[in-house]
Amino acid sequence: MNRLLVLYGSQTGSAQDTAERIGRQAQRRRMKVRVEALDDYGVANLISESLVVFVCSTTGQGDPPDNMKNFWRFLFRKSLPADSLCRLDYAVLGLGDSSYPKFNFVAKKLHKRLLQLGASALLPVGLADDQHDLGLPPHYIFNFLEDVPVKEAEQHRITEEPAPPSSVHPFLAKVVSNQRVTQPSHFQDVRQIEFDITGSNIKFGAGDVVMIRPCNASEDVEKFCQLLRLDSDRWFTLKSSSESSVTVPSRLPQPCSIRHLVESFLDIAAVPRRSFFELLATFATNELEREKLAEFSSARGQEELHAYCNRPRRTALEVLADFPHTTAELKVDYLLELFPEIQPRSFSIASSLLAQPNSIQILVAVVRYKTKLQKPRKGLCSSWLASLDPSQGDMFVPLWVKKGGLKFPNDLETPVIMVGPGTGVAPFRAALQERIALGRTANMLFFGCRSEAKDFYCRSEWEEMERAGHLKLFTAFSRDQEDKVYVQHRVKEQATLLWDLISNMGAFFYIAGNAKQMPTGVCDALKGVFQKEGGVSASQAQEMLDALEKSGHFQSETWS
Ligand code: 2AM
Repeated sequence: MNRLLVLYGSQTGSAQDTAERIGRQAQRRRMKVRVEALDDYGVANLISESLVVFVCSTTGQGDPPDNMKNFWRFLFRKSLPADSLCRLDYAVLGLGDSSYPKFNFVAKKLHKRLLQLGASALLPVGLADDQHDLGLPPHYIFNFLEDVPVKEAEQHRITEEPAPPSSVHPFLAKVVSNQRVTQPSHFQDVRQIEFDITGSNIKFGAGDVVMIRPCNASEDVEKFCQLLRLDSDRWFTLKSSSESSVTVPSRLPQPCSIRHLVESFLDIAAVPRRSFFELLATFATNELEREKLAEFSSARGQEELHAYCNRPRRTALEVLADFPHTTAELKVDYLLELFPEIQPRSFSIASSLLAQPNSIQILVAVVRYKTKLQKPRKGLCSSWLASLDPSQGDMFVPLWVKKGGLKFPNDLETPVIMVGPGTGVAPFRAALQERIALGRTANMLFFGCRSEAKDFYCRSEWEEMERAGHLKLFTAFSRDQEDKVYVQHRVKEQATLLWDLISNMGAFFYIAGNAKQMPTGVCDALKGVFQKEGGVSASQAQEMLDALEKSGHFQSETWS
């Protein structure tokens, strides 16, 4: 069900604008979308449609707009059989003005008629109201409690589930250690972090990933509450409003404190979207702020919005600080609509349960970068993880695991060749630990970093594995000499050995990492190996690589 038709009836253009925006949103979700005025659409085709959103305004006396009048007449023909639209799933959004007696009459009537004709409504009819600009009543209602609930300490303790932890019920894993593995003088802070998963019922194998949902920094939480004049120690219960079809997010505890909501649920550190400005604009009473917000919400203001927000990666919190009057007027009931939920991040697991039971280890490059703004930008999750110092007390991280993209061969005879520069080495550390725990195996690792002295992490582990005869290691230190040396250069140098492993021994070849051009560079080097050692043409080398990929002998996992 990935084809969507959006049909509108519009008098002044608002319904058309809304329909087109729905269309764009759906396109972003990879649906095939068509947006059309109702009278331009061949209405007889409705019989064979399966998914339609209708956006219709109601004009003064409860009449449909001019560009849906023919459709309207057709739809209300008595001769239409009662089940003629039985294949259709639909939603109706009405645009109206509640100061008129026939508020959203067209949308309501359309909804009734579609039901009569056998169509199924996916949502209750949406009734937008011009009296509230966007016309959106809040989806949620906050009910503040007078007192702090007695069991405050329990709030962050999600009870252990017998089932494996998941996004709704993550496991709160204790941070065992959090070590910087690059030299202090190195430009990048890379952490090796270990979590204790004792009692979690979590199982994983090499190549799997751990999902971690970060929290906002406590100074950001403070700042946010200050700007919105919220008392972070207040507690509330939450329910969805009666007009709304949303459900209260199940991972929010009830009752919940404002602090917990802001800290672990609302994504205030992300770059806000246009809809954020639209909703914000509806609260603005300060003239200057209202004008600016209206501009950012409008079609013609998009370039300026991009320059203000997206290019410098301005956070929602920073935007709020730029609009202090409006922010102070924000109604708490809209918080969950204004801010998206903090999304979990995935990390390749860098350890094996066979070698290190009850433990999950990850390698995290702490994200920091500069934009035009003075303040350096930070990655929410990596900065939060880096800030958790187990020597300062017990630190807990909500996590669960998922199957990853990399699969390692079951039989230990098959050699594996792994190319993992930087933190790309994480899944290969897991694979090496696992394979070595299972027995003597043949493994090759190409590791790349900037400098042997500064960011050659896990070095002693690789050397230990080499000594024990489990590993052949090749390193590329890109900046220890004048010319860049990358892992693909080492791959090229090992052509004869690699060709033998791949063509005669059925070796598996893996790439993991985050450098954008790296996978292409390594693939090219590998194809060069096939050409040089196998005597094949460039296109045959590509075919070989494709065949290896198809059979699972070539796998790559990259991230940014
Ligand atoms: P650089 O930063 O000196 O360019 C881990 O990040 C290692 O990957 C670094 O040594 C980095 O080198 C290197 N790297 C960057 N771009 C790469 C590419 N296109 N191919 C291979 N390695 C790359």
